[in-house]
Amino acid sequence: MCGIVGYYGSENAAPVLLKGLEKLEYRGYDSAGIALLENGNLRVVRKKGRVSELFNVKDMSGKLGIGHTRWATHGAPSETNAHPHVYGRFAVVHNGIIENDFALKEECRSRGEVFSSETDSEVIAHLLEFYYEGNFLTAVKSTVERLKGSYALAILCADCEGIILARKSSPLVVGSGNGGLFAASDISAIAAQGVDIYTLEDGEFALLATEITFFDGNLKRISKEKIEYDAEDETPDKKGYRHFMRKEMAEIPAVLGKSVCDFTAAKYREFYRVLKQTEQIQIVACGTAYHSGLCAKHAIESLCRVPVEVCIASEYRYSNPIVRPYTLALAVSQSGETADTLAAAEIAKSKGAYLVAVTNVPYSTITRLADYVLPTNAGREVAVAATKSFNAQLALLYSIASALDKAKGGAGFFDEILSLPEKVKCAEEACEEVRAWVPHFLGARSVFFLGRGADYATSLEGSLKLKEITYLPSEGYPAGELKHGTLALVDSSTPVVAVLTQKSVADKTMNAVHEVYARGAKVFLITCFEEYTSRKEVTASLLLPECKEEFTPILSVLPLQALAYYVSIARGNNPDKPRNLAKSVTVE
Ligand code: AGP
Repeated sequence: MCGIVGYYGSENAAPVLLKGLEKLEYRGYDSAGIALLENGNLRVVRKKGRVSELFNVKDMSGKLGIGHTRWATHGAPSETNAHPHVYGRFAVVHNGIIENDFALKEECRSRGEVFSSETDSEVIAHLLEFYYEGNFLTAVKSTVERLKGSYALAILCADCEGIILARKSSPLVVGSGNGGLFAASDISAIAAQGVDIYTLEDGEFALLATEITFFDGNLKRISKEKIEYDAEDETPDKKGYRHFMRKEMAEIPAVLGKSVCDFTAAKYREFYRVLKQTEQIQIVACGTAYHSGLCAKHAIESLCRVPVEVCIASEYRYSNPIVRPYTLALAVSQSGETADTLAAAEIAKSKGAYLVAVTNVPYSTITRLADYVLPTNAGREVAVAATKSFNAQLALLYSIASALDKAKGGAGFFDEILSLPEKVKCAEEACEEVRAWVPHFLGARSVFFLGRGADYATSLEGSLKLKEITYLPSEGYPAGELKHGTLALVDSSTPVVAVLTQKSVADKTMNAVHEVYARGAKVFLITCFEEYTSRKEVTASLLLPECKEEFTPILSVLPLQALAYYVSIARGNNPDKPRNLAKSVTVE
């Protein structure tokens, strides 16, 4: 992942770069650094840890600079592995992975060059120095031609008053206005500057000098249209909440109103035509987005009887997948930048599927790859743990199910979908009750989330959320499968959360509840059915509003998100920035 920024303008660069890096910390926070160029002198400051470690360099002079916040891939989080990497007259910041770094480093070492870090990125600075013959731009072109993998690069050369940017499979935007030229991994880092923003595409270059000049892969000048963006949405604040995660959870009921869609407007004609022809659906996604795909599969297959395959994108991309005619591929991604999802989406499209991007970020890479884009409209999500984007994905995927049913001659079930925001509002309010459950989870050796059908998909998401921000080992498990081995892990130190919203299998899930209770486990029940809440096996329960069975995950996930949040803070963690993780996973 990593976030990169660049600035050249009338102000001192250091504070501008630091402000941008803070906005990009969601991409990684293992180390941070900046390089400034003034009168041909490169000055670099790097620190292990968060961007705030750099605040004492705010007063450094220099109007031209680049910066980086790192999520470690090659080499430990440390000052030596922090970017910018400098070699000769070049300083470089990199987001991505250079896959042929070993061979390239050997080549450099054979020339007597010495490396000072364990990173893949440092080799880029070495190649730049090697290829430099007085022309900055051609040195960059020759260098990137040697790189395999992914990169967004911002580069300084001590001989030149400017920044050169290059990208392949990692996002990069540039901006101009307000007395400066800007570069960043995404819009959020520069939107507050109120500038005109342009996206860089794979293989292109940009030079930030007296103005921005764009070049294609052959260094031929090209022109670009600025993009439209909502500056307010791009500059989020916590609005009084202690954490972004809590604020984003509170936004869920309001967000859903913007995510549901009946697809009757004329602008959806093309999508509706595709739905009519669709014979199967493939969903490709990662993490939480994968779980929303699993929930959607349950709803679409049950209500529309159209087969749905949900694929983990990192597996799909290397599996030589079978894509039959009339396949609708849904690439679900909050960020629209997840490397595995992008690669999987590209494969589905190349094999003939009609590719629809379900994403929360306008202008993200996936929107340019897809045949059609459906925005989830959840608004910017800052916390690493996805919450409102999951519910928004569900609202949109259920809407697709309803439209699909109609396209196939059914009546759809959009009225039911329209009632969801109100139900979600009631459930969201009830979620505070799970705070009382927290002490039971603090000393747990491990935690199980059990469910059947759609409840199993929700259990997987509840477990992921808990692992991600509390660091407690946990598993989401199909309730009926537990007895085939995994039950051996359950004892009195294993809290079990049972999700029970599917009437037809409720008693079956209760069988698993009996089994874990008999082994001493405490059971916490999330259900829509009051009759189960007073069972002797249940330590505590949370009652959700009744809802069409196929759509219950949009409600039952809420207490699971809340549980993870409150356990996380009770354990002294920062739920917005869990260790080892980053919001946007732009590397393999
Ligand atoms: C969710 O809490 C995670 N941070 C993670 O699993 C995330 O959902 C996954 O990386 C996919 O991201 P995307 O939706 O931006 O593609």
